[in-house]
Amino acid sequence: MTLPFLPFTRPSIDEETIAGVAAVLRSGWITSGPQVQAFEAELSRHCGGRTVRAFNSGTGTMEIALRLAGVGAGHEVITTPLSWVATANVTLEVGARPVFVDIDPATRNIDLNRVEAAITPATKAIIPVDLAGLPVDRDRLYAITRKHGLRVIEDAAQSYGASWGGRNIGAFGDFVSFSFHANKNITTIEGGALVLPDDIDVKLCERYRLQGVERIGFDGMEVDVLGGKFNLTDVAARVGLGQLKHLEEFTARRRALAEHYFDCIDAELGCDLPVMDFENCNWHMFQIVLPRDIVRAELMAALKERGIGSGVHYPVIHLFKLYRAMGFHEGMFPQAERVGAGILTLPLFPAMVNADVERVCEALADAIHAQRNARRAA
Ligand SMILES: Cc1ncc(COP(=O)(O)O)c(C=O)c1O
Repeated sequence: MTLPFLPFTRPSIDEETIAGVAAVLRSGWITSGPQVQAFEAELSRHCGGRTVRAFNSGTGTMEIALRLAGVGAGHEVITTPLSWVATANVTLEVGARPVFVDIDPATRNIDLNRVEAAITPATKAIIPVDLAGLPVDRDRLYAITRKHGLRVIEDAAQSYGASWGGRNIGAFGDFVSFSFHANKNITTIEGGALVLPDDIDVKLCERYRLQGVERIGFDGMEVDVLGGKFNLTDVAARVGLGQLKHLEEFTARRRALAEHYFDCIDAELGCDLPVMDFENCNWHMFQIVLPRDIVRAELMAALKERGIGSGVHYPVIHLFKLYRAMGFHEGMFPQAERVGAGILTLPLFPAMVNADVERVCEALADAIHAQRNARRAA
């Protein structure tokens, strides 16, 4: 019997949410309105009562956070080279310069031991990324940023539902940015949210979110800053509200599946495994780093033939043409380059069962052995 294809991720959207979306579509109000407000209130509850504003992406959230933090031309923003390119693009978008710091190969997150050496008088902010939902050490991070007077925009795109020291990511810290893209642990199809620190003007954030517009009374309107088009729709927010009800169950399921991966993956294959964190991490992804002798593209094709999806998250940012043109080159961040060249995301989503994990591990071992055997025979 051929088993159905197992993608590397798949959203779980329940019937109640689908019915709720239909009700919003019939309501006559489909763009930003009451559902967005309800979604923001729920997100705020999860973030310890802090102010949260919904956006149409987790890229827009970071761009606006940088603007609110006063980051612009002549400034530097420290970040990791191993992330979705959005993490660095937003710095360019506001006219500042990204400064990359190599990763810790164990966590695959920015190496906090190297951050201070990258700080210059032009450094304004840092954008740490919780890759695969494994939080960057918040205690050490904020100790560094407080010492140097830097703003933090936590790129928590992948870590909604994760925690640090028993507190939810988003419930503390400076700016915290979430993404609700279709692949994320909680989705609004496309979308994001920004948790705002107390010293930030919420009204200014809202104006940046929508064309700089301030509405005055029934018929008045003023524009005093250049805003963009970042508002979330009510349809999307309704999806998000339905998703939030499952947050704990989804996270628990992901953790259990990740634990099962550690039980099933063949250590003899020589793959690097993620940090075994079943407390803080929300297991947004289960990522391995392939041994150097394995050609990733061939392996992905072989997995696909065996009915298994996989993904690459991510090639390093500084080696994209856009960034090379700014002077970044190979060899600058060797840990990130090695991990970026060999990283592979295996299937992990809440609707999976343990047998799926076993199937992935068998296919992985089979495909790696087949590649090695074929090379030996050649
Ligand atoms: C680490 C990271 N940062 C930023 C983003 C951007 O989020 P969005 O796609 O919602 O704009 C993503 C989403 O893919 C991400 O994974």
